[in-house]
Amino acid sequence: MKKEINVGLLGAGVVGGGVLIVLEKNADDIAKKVGCPIKVSKILIKSLAETPEEFKGKYDFTENADDILNDPEIDIVIELMGREHPAKEYISQALSNKKSVITANKDVVAKYGAELFALAAENNVDFMFEAAVGGGIPIIRPLKNCLASNKITSILGIINGTTNYMLTKMSKENMSYGDALAEAQAKGYAESDPTADVGGLDAARKIAILASIGFNTRVDLDDVYVEGIDHLELCDIEYARDLGYAIKLLGVAKNHKDNGISAAVYPVMLPLEHPLAAINDVFNAIFVTGDAVGDAMFVGRGAGRLPTASAVCGDVIDVARNIIHNSTGRISCTCFEEKHLCALENIMAPCYMRLHVQDKPGVLAAIAAAFGAQGVSLKNVIQKEVLIKDSTAELVVITHDVSEYNLRMAIQTLKALPAVDEVCSVIRVENQVME
Ligand code: HSE
Repeated sequence: MKKEINVGLLGAGVVGGGVLIVLEKNADDIAKKVGCPIKVSKILIKSLAETPEEFKGKYDFTENADDILNDPEIDIVIELMGREHPAKEYISQALSNKKSVITANKDVVAKYGAELFALAAENNVDFMFEAAVGGGIPIIRPLKNCLASNKITSILGIINGTTNYMLTKMSKENMSYGDALAEAQAKGYAESDPTADVGGLDAARKIAILASIGFNTRVDLDDVYVEGIDHLELCDIEYARDLGYAIKLLGVAKNHKDNGISAAVYPVMLPLEHPLAAINDVFNAIFVTGDAVGDAMFVGRGAGRLPTASAVCGDVIDVARNIIHNSTGRISCTCFEEKHLCALENIMAPCYMRLHVQDKPGVLAAIAAAFGAQGVSLKNVIQKEVLIKDSTAELVVITHDVSEYNLRMAIQTLKALPAVDEVCSVIRVENQVME
């Protein structure tokens, strides 16, 4: 029986510091849960001169990654440096040296997951990343363990806190896009480059990871169709609200019956009665549908020091138990299938469209005919008294289910109509309801 499990920590920033706090605060309980104490034996930081004040004198700090990666006494390496490099190289080195690795690094997992899993399997160690998606929300382990008997048919996720915060502010306080972004940045929610948040890339990395696990097939970042919220206008959010919808930036992964799988990130209009529509501010939520469990939703804090540390420390406990029971490497890569990607053009969903058109007789009929010519059936048409400019009207249309292909053809036809000044926005509608 081991006397203690030694951990090497790469990075003592916001999340790294959180891990130290949680492991220390709950050390007694954790030791009992594992069967022996967890000891953080070395911590990598950029410069010893910048050793965080709160941990000075309590831990052994180093500037040299090899002190951790090549230390035979260290059982587990926790990588919390962020960014792709050198995090990926350090993780590879640790796995090759037969150390289990825990990371919160979604960039690395989404891009190099396949390679790192193979390396972990080769060395019979664990590679865990619960904190990479949804911060403190348990979702990786539930997919890999608790829901493993299911065929997962869809995963819908609010998996970016920054954009959810912004959309909440825009919707509830009529705040402009720019003000909402500035506030999210000031509160420290946004990535260092906020275009990864508002442009959808951060969520794309996360949905690629979830889809790979949920559907047991490798989904690369390049397989994910990405649209952000940067083109959304306040009036779309207002229209959505009036029509009984909330607009959310969703990661959407679907296992289509006979048509492969799809993964995407885009703004979605969700009926207000959908459980995801009620997830506001910086909260994240992942709504999973499986053939046995039905619908299940996981909600919580998707970022932040202690919530993310909670997920990392959960992995530490799991890996430590595996080490003690000689069962590391038990759950490796679950991508044992090669499912094909469903072409975006074939995906069916209803759609919201806002247009500026000339306000004169026959225009509505011409627009309805343009939709009809592409086989698009309309569900609602609204013309509000909005002053755009003289003799211009704003029309809002919601369609029945339409394939992306037919939708694009309809947009082309509409744009060619002399009576249509502009197709201002197109937003997909999610009509899946809780069962
Ligand atoms: N910028 C991310 C978010 C943080 O807003 O959710 C966690 O990945």
